Amino acid sequence: MLSAGLPGLVLLAACERPPTEPLAARDVSQPAGWADELAMPVPQDLNPDPNVLELELEARIENVEIVPGFKTPAWTYNGTVPGPMIRAKLGDRVIVHFKNSLPEATTIHWHGLRVPNEMDGAPGVTQPPIESGGEFRYEFQLRDAGTYWYHPHTDSSTQVGRGLYGAFIVDDPADPEAFGDDLVMLLSDMGLDEQGQLLPADSGGNFGDLFGREGAVLLVNGKVRPTLKVRNGKQQRWRLINATRARYYNVRLRNHRFMRLGGDNGLAARSADVYNLIITPGERADAVFTPADPPGSTNVLRWVPTERGYGSTFSRPSETMLLLETVADAPVTPEPIPTELRTIEPLDLSSAKHRTLDLTIAIKSKVEMGVNGVPFWNAKPLEIALGDTEIWRIVNNTDFSHPFHLHGYFFQVQDDARVPEWKDTVNVPTKSELTIAVRFDERPGAWMYHCHILDHAEAGMMGHLVVRDPNAPQSLATPAPHHH
Ligand code: C2O
Ligand code: CU
Repeated sequence: MLSAGLPGLVLLAACERPPTEPLAARDVSQPAGWADELAMPVPQDLNPDPNVLELELEARIENVEIVPGFKTPAWTYNGTVPGPMIRAKLGDRVIVHFKNSLPEATTIHWHGLRVPNEMDGAPGVTQPPIESGGEFRYEFQLRDAGTYWYHPHTDSSTQVGRGLYGAFIVDDPADPEAFGDDLVMLLSDMGLDEQGQLLPADSGGNFGDLFGREGAVLLVNGKVRPTLKVRNGKQQRWRLINATRARYYNVRLRNHRFMRLGGDNGLAARSADVYNLIITPGERADAVFTPADPPGSTNVLRWVPTERGYGSTFSRPSETMLLLETVADAPVTPEPIPTELRTIEPLDLSSAKHRTLDLTIAIKSKVEMGVNGVPFWNAKPLEIALGDTEIWRIVNNTDFSHPFHLHGYFFQVQDDARVPEWKDTVNVPTKSELTIAVRFDERPGAWMYHCHILDHAEAGMMGHLVVRDPNAPQSLATPAPHHH
């Protein structure tokens, strides 16, 4: 068994700044060292321009300690799991000098960020795979505040499962201070044996593909059950990122509720008082947590099983993700959280085109997943005219839920019961359907969509679309789908 309270596992490269700096920049009313155990490394900024963040990222295998006393040969960015937290402000330009020192090809996808098409990291679609030993320069401007992340897009179930992911935060300096100090928690899991060795990428065979591979070891910022120090009444803005291959998070804390601010693309239209935070693979949650436990007490942040289809909750216990220690300091009075957060205009759907995407699973000699019955390696791209708005009915008659993700554009879920917000990933529960609206207003090119249970994506539940500028019809060849 893994014990609680692991010694900190912060593997800082010599060039990196101390990890705590960006977390508590605004405020000193949290307990000292409140987030030390949770801090992620921050890359060195190579560019003196305050509006440019320029950094080096290297994907490489590195021994990291996850199970106490053992070394896991994890796949890392810059030697740590997760990789460095990239954090900059709205409008900044980011330049990433990327080097692939893995034994396999890879790419980086900037999940949720509206980057130029050729920076999107989709192998064989927006760029060739970056071979072992190869380099690539990613460069883009940050157009949307919010909580994002980055991960490979080749053999993604394996590469993400071995540790390749990092947080990417775009700050809006205009956000209200009442949200409290900002804490980023990247949630992941790993399939490890008792000696910390990685389970084979295809563990469970067809069942692994079908159910999606959940690693048994839960990590918060790469740590097993770390401790967060809080002060009664002192708010914290939590940004939770689900970077697992397949695990759904349902996060609960005894005696507490959360004020949900939004998720994928920053703030929603209104804040919402919620009992739990559900974050499916690829999604993010942005919420204010107000510690309410008596000074001197300890509480436990729990992962609670969530229905995501056949057998996904049956006799599964909840698990401890994080320990919360309320320090003895006198309580402070929480600040009121605004109700109205942001204006989100509904898309004009008057001339929208309609499509149905049916998420499908066929059991052959191997599990073959697809969209409208076609796995990605046989799929023709959806053809879309630049400037069009489309309404997609996403149908799921399979026995499993699927978190549907679209690259390049945010969408609006058509559901009056939800607080309006812009999303890039949304859960489509088993035996249900939902409708999204997207405006393909700019950045013509080829963009992916797929289930973010990465085992499902690799089993075929993935496709791409081509947004064509009708005034430049020759400018874009139809790319060939990539099949490794
Ligand atoms: Cu985070 Cu194509 O995915
Ligand atoms: Cu799926």
